[in-house]
Amino acid sequence: MGEQPQARPPPLRTLGLYVHWPYCARICPYCDFNVVRDRGASETKARLVDAIVADLAAQARLTGAMSLVSVFFGGGTPSLMDPEDVTRILDTAQTLWTPSADLEVTLEANPTDAEASRFAALARAGVTRLSLGVQSLDDRALVTLGRNHDAATARRAAGVAVDAFPRLSIDLIHGLPGQDAAAWAEDLAAGMALGPEHISAYELTVEPGTAFDRAVRRGTLRMLEEHARADLFSLTQDMLSAAGFEAYEVSNHARGTGARARHNLVYWRGEDYVGVGPGAHGRLTLDGARWALETPRAIGDYAHAALDEDAAPFRQRLTRRDAALERLLMGLRTVEGVSLADLTPLAIPDGKIAELSGLIDLSEGRLIASPRGRAVLDSLIKHLAERSLADTET
Ligand SMILES: C[S@@+](CC[C@H](N)C(=O)[O-])C[C@H]1O[C@@H](n2cnc3c(N)ncnc32)[C@H](O)[C@@H]1O
Ligand code: SF4
Repeated sequence: MGEQPQARPPPLRTLGLYVHWPYCARICPYCDFNVVRDRGASETKARLVDAIVADLAAQARLTGAMSLVSVFFGGGTPSLMDPEDVTRILDTAQTLWTPSADLEVTLEANPTDAEASRFAALARAGVTRLSLGVQSLDDRALVTLGRNHDAATARRAAGVAVDAFPRLSIDLIHGLPGQDAAAWAEDLAAGMALGPEHISAYELTVEPGTAFDRAVRRGTLRMLEEHARADLFSLTQDMLSAAGFEAYEVSNHARGTGARARHNLVYWRGEDYVGVGPGAHGRLTLDGARWALETPRAIGDYAHAALDEDAAPFRQRLTRRDAALERLLMGLRTVEGVSLADLTPLAIPDGKIAELSGLIDLSEGRLIASPRGRAVLDSLIKHLAERSLADTET
């Protein structure tokens, strides 16, 4: 008797992993991420790594088998991590989930000499993509930003990174106090000259509770007017697109689709991801519902929960409406847009989409913001989801 053909198992669903490393050599005056000064404390750090490894196992029990497409070490400053700890975390993750053939492993780095000297070891540990926080190549701007490196150091770090890693992305910030178009154009050109395949160009935002926020309130720091900021945004789009970088998301530009950040696409496409480390967020689809996960913010609380209590992160089930709203907020950021089917719970009237023609377009069942629409995304989304934002329905 011939053998019965075996039914193929369905493909595993994809998963991204975010690892938060909260330590920084110095706290920048504009930053409101969950960070602390690195004061050496090696015992606390060793306990944190143990906690991250335990947390990975706890979260894998929630997700079940999945295909790991991306790992992102963010911070904080993960380039301060011991490469052996990076290896241990990566090995653990790849035991718990099935690594996809093109697994992307990104690590955020600050461009100091001390950190550049570890790049080769971090590449050997499995990092395939470095995200270098250059911020600016203008020494005066770097002083304004309170950075602990100058432009020459950032150039050296980028040179080391190009040799050490297959892929390099850089972060730049525009809209600094007093910055004009000529200064930003020079800075952006200098950033491109470092040879990255990907550039994240962020507009400086004043986050509540930061030193910049206090300085703005005291009147010692004056931010640019809205029209000046908008001009710098369009200059960014024009210069990068002329140089072959596609604006595939509001602030993110890649030289070709292969250079897009797979990890960020996980967020923007509404795929599943887990977050480990203090204050890390996750999103999982479990039994047909969308869940938001969050770990304790303080390092000690996080380690205690993961090691002493074997606790999985705090979980909250999102309402269908909130999950759809999140899809809208994330999806419209990218050139891929968002499937209209995912937005059903928002009950967006057809008329509203027609009203916004030119800013958003409907193509093959997907709602996609045009470059003009992405430039005014916040007000666009507000208008589109007005009723939904105001609605408290579950
Ligand atoms: C979490 S930081 C980590 C990167 C790394 N520690 C560094 O500072 O180079 C990621 C990026 O967020 C951006 N960023 C942080 N705070 C910002 C702010 N207030 N406005 C605009 N961009 C900001 C910076 O470009 C930074 O590189
Ligand atoms: S911007 Fe980067 S280096 Fe500065 S405090 Fe924030 S995470 Fe740390």
